[in-house]
Amino acid sequence: MSDILSAATEYHRKEYNNFGRLLRIYQRKRFLRNLFFSVLVSVCLIALVHHNSTQLEDSLSVHLEPTDHFRYCIQYNFTRSYDNFRVNADLEPVTLAMHSSIDFLHYMFDQVTTWEGAISLSVFIDRNVPEYLSYLYRIHDCDEDVRRHVSFHIVTIFDMVCDPIVIQKTWDCSLYLREDTINYLRSIRRSGFIYPINVMRNVARRGAQSKIHILSDIEMVFSLDAERLLTRVANKLVTGKKKIVLVIRRFEVEDGLDVPRTAEKLYDMFLTNRSVVEFHAKLFPEGHFIPYINSWFEESLNSTKIRARGVPYSNSFWEPQVVIHAYDPMHDETIPTRHRDHQALAYELCRAGYRFFVVTNIFNVHRGIKKSTTFLDNEVARLGQEANLLRSRIFFRRMNLLYPTTYLKCARWDNRKVAGRARQFTSFNGKQNEFNTEYGF
Ligand SMILES: *[C@@H]1O[C@H](CO)[C@@H](O)[C@H](O)[C@H]1NC(C)=O
Ligand SMILES: *[C@@H]1O[C@H](CO)[C@@H](O)[C@H](O)[C@H]1NC(C)=O
Ligand SMILES: *[C@@H]1O[C@H](CO)[C@@H](O)[C@H](O)[C@H]1NC(C)=O
Repeated sequence: MSDILSAATEYHRKEYNNFGRLLRIYQRKRFLRNLFFSVLVSVCLIALVHHNSTQLEDSLSVHLEPTDHFRYCIQYNFTRSYDNFRVNADLEPVTLAMHSSIDFLHYMFDQVTTWEGAISLSVFIDRNVPEYLSYLYRIHDCDEDVRRHVSFHIVTIFDMVCDPIVIQKTWDCSLYLREDTINYLRSIRRSGFIYPINVMRNVARRGAQSKIHILSDIEMVFSLDAERLLTRVANKLVTGKKKIVLVIRRFEVEDGLDVPRTAEKLYDMFLTNRSVVEFHAKLFPEGHFIPYINSWFEESLNSTKIRARGVPYSNSFWEPQVVIHAYDPMHDETIPTRHRDHQALAYELCRAGYRFFVVTNIFNVHRGIKKSTTFLDNEVARLGQEANLLRSRIFFRRMNLLYPTTYLKCARWDNRKVAGRARQFTSFNGKQNEFNTEYGF
């Protein structure tokens, strides 16, 4: 009995072993077959991709996404700056956030040679002229300073859909000359589109390489070392939590003169022959007035330490250049271009309880002193437009709903300018004497 049993067991063991052997052979075969096929497929795929890429090497498809309000199409980081300008893990760099149309883009070369940090630049492009996009890509590809500093973001008009734009990539960087590029860009005529300035500003901020932004115009030239100095002050005050923005003093220099980049040179030209003046001081004082200019000069000349000093929000036409955090309010994109588009941000900052601190030693300068009043005339003319007024009122209503408690603090959002001079308010958010505090860095 046990013999039969052991014979049966032996049979099953053999059978089992046999099955196991067959199974292993089968599995090995299947494995080899799968391996063979997957290698074959991979080779085919690689060949295919390679084939495609050699075919597409000369063109690039630029994919754009619609904005929330479906009025524009955007591609962030069309090209990226290769340097991230993070010298120290504890310091958030300050990114220069700017915007431009193609005919103003030549000013970018002033920026890449004077601003020492990252530049986030939104460019408004007519999608019917893809050559401009290709040109932009070429500049980034071939110009070392642009490649190091600038991230470009593309904005076009939304037209039913945001079709990708195919651009040609055929250039030889050894033939690139910055001078030629500047001359070419200068020769481009302005397109007929209304430039969506607040969308452009927000795109530059959202695409920025860091969380602290200085919002500036592309024609302004910053003082020496501005990025390094600003980074140190801004990391203490512009944190996204403190509700503080820094204000940069702006000047204008007479056409044809060298742009002063140190406080000494600036003061020299400001004082001795008035070839430097405060930005739009005569033209639009309520928009640009910043108090304490004399002590600002004294402190800037006397010390290399940066001080930040509180200044009041004086009237709803004020439009200071600010250093601001990514978490702070954005520009209102419903406010029409040139209709108090930047004033609305300063106003919202005041209503939201922000404080404004002017920093010493750091400033920027505009080439050319604006003397005519065309800007103001335009402003006033546009103020009459019903649609703009309506949007402006809607903005004011939104501010009152969002920030009901600061109605009295920040002046009215007043669309009437009284004989060129807005009513002056002296509104400090917080305690008055807090603003006499000076922060040394
Ligand atoms: C753009 O690039 C920066 C890095 O330079 C990155 O931090 C950011 O998230 C990118 N933005 C978008 C919208 O892709
Ligand atoms: C003013 O001074 C600057 C240098 O300090 C000089 O270059 C410029 O020519 C002067 N302008 C006039 C109008 O004198
Ligand atoms: C300038 O510096 C001198 C000496 O360092 C000091 O006595 C003076 O008070 C300073 N002036 C201002 C305006 O800070």
